[in-house]
Amino acid sequence: MPPFPAVDPIPLPAPIWLFKLLHIVTLALHFVAVEMLLGGLLLAVVLSLFRGSAPAHVTARAIARRLTVVMTYVINLGVPPLLFAQVLYGRALYTSSILIGAYWISIIVLLMLVYRLLYRFTAQLEASRTAWPVGLLAWLLAGFIARLLSSNMTLMLRPEAWRDMYSASAAGRFLPTGDPTLTPRWLLMLAGGLFIGGLWLIYLSARSTFTADEKKFIAGFGGKVAALCGIVYLVAGLWANAAQPAPVRALLAAPPPGYGFYRYYALGGYVWLLLVVVAVLLAAYVGFARIAANWLAWAGALIALLVEIAFTVYRDAVRDLTLLSKGYDVWDRVVVTNWSVVGLFLVLFVASLGVVGWLVSVVARAKKPMEGAA
Ligand code: HEM
Repeated sequence: MPPFPAVDPIPLPAPIWLFKLLHIVTLALHFVAVEMLLGGLLLAVVLSLFRGSAPAHVTARAIARRLTVVMTYVINLGVPPLLFAQVLYGRALYTSSILIGAYWISIIVLLMLVYRLLYRFTAQLEASRTAWPVGLLAWLLAGFIARLLSSNMTLMLRPEAWRDMYSASAAGRFLPTGDPTLTPRWLLMLAGGLFIGGLWLIYLSARSTFTADEKKFIAGFGGKVAALCGIVYLVAGLWANAAQPAPVRALLAAPPPGYGFYRYYALGGYVWLLLVVVAVLLAAYVGFARIAANWLAWAGALIALLVEIAFTVYRDAVRDLTLLSKGYDVWDRVVVTNWSVVGLFLVLFVASLGVVGWLVSVVARAKKPMEGAA
């Protein structure tokens, strides 16, 4: 009997390539926000330990003030890829979500806790009180949410494990262990957090709301963190790739006939590698020279975005080819495109991008107080 549930008889209302494109774009943006949260929070916790250093305190507080906003992006940019993933991979993703159901649903409570703790962390920094225990707790909970997401995204690729898990308990109370890809994949996201967090500091170092001394401190610290953690991120990426089962690595190198386009997808891996190396060199330059400049800030931000896009593309190829090797072809669906709905969706999508752009421009033009002011 095939391990996957029967396909929904209702056809898809839009071309599969469109769903996949929107999925990859929105998921890459979710990953940018997730990495800023995971890395920025840990860096703010570390900086808050240096209570005698004024620039360290100002930097920790500046990051913390932004983290509650970053959290809204983590959540809002998580919803679209969840919907697209359910459309494309529902038969695998729903099954794995049910198998870890109790943990999966607990993410909602954990998210609210993290949110609450982020506000408390910021308030304690504003009041110059000891803040690191609250910040660390928020980071541990966010890291656990990441672990749950990695668990589900890897369990959905292992239909061979589903029957035994469900026979052992139908209550959704098991977290899968024993998948060699799970821990490298989770650690890759955590290492990526510190790397992107460092690039975020390079970006912040060029903001006019910091004094010249603060800018030097932020550029020096952020640059060194991004350079060092970029190397760790690179190693974690190679490890996560090497941990993939041999048939999947073989398919990535030589996709089966009819699926040759995955060769271009797999190029995302090389692009990712190249971008991380460029970012490490740029960050090392910024970190050791302690230079804060607008062009370096924007270059760092652009590379961070491109790194996450390349990573998401490659990750998508790994998932599709893993599922293909187990009999699940994401392209094998009946499509009856409802062009009027697709057109309306695209118009609203572009309009909402315009509104967000306008909001960002309003924030950018607003007069802001200096970060060091009490
Ligand atoms: C603190 C909050 C969050 C953290 C730390 C986090 C972290 C992560 C991580 C690490 C992954 C990648 C897992 C892997 O592939 O190994 C991921 C994927 C994902 N996250 Fe989040 N996430 C958070 C919140 C959310 C929320 C609120 C949503 C949705 C409402 C969401 C939706 C998704 C989806 C849909 C994916 C995977 C999609 C796919 O593979 O197609 N996340 N997240």
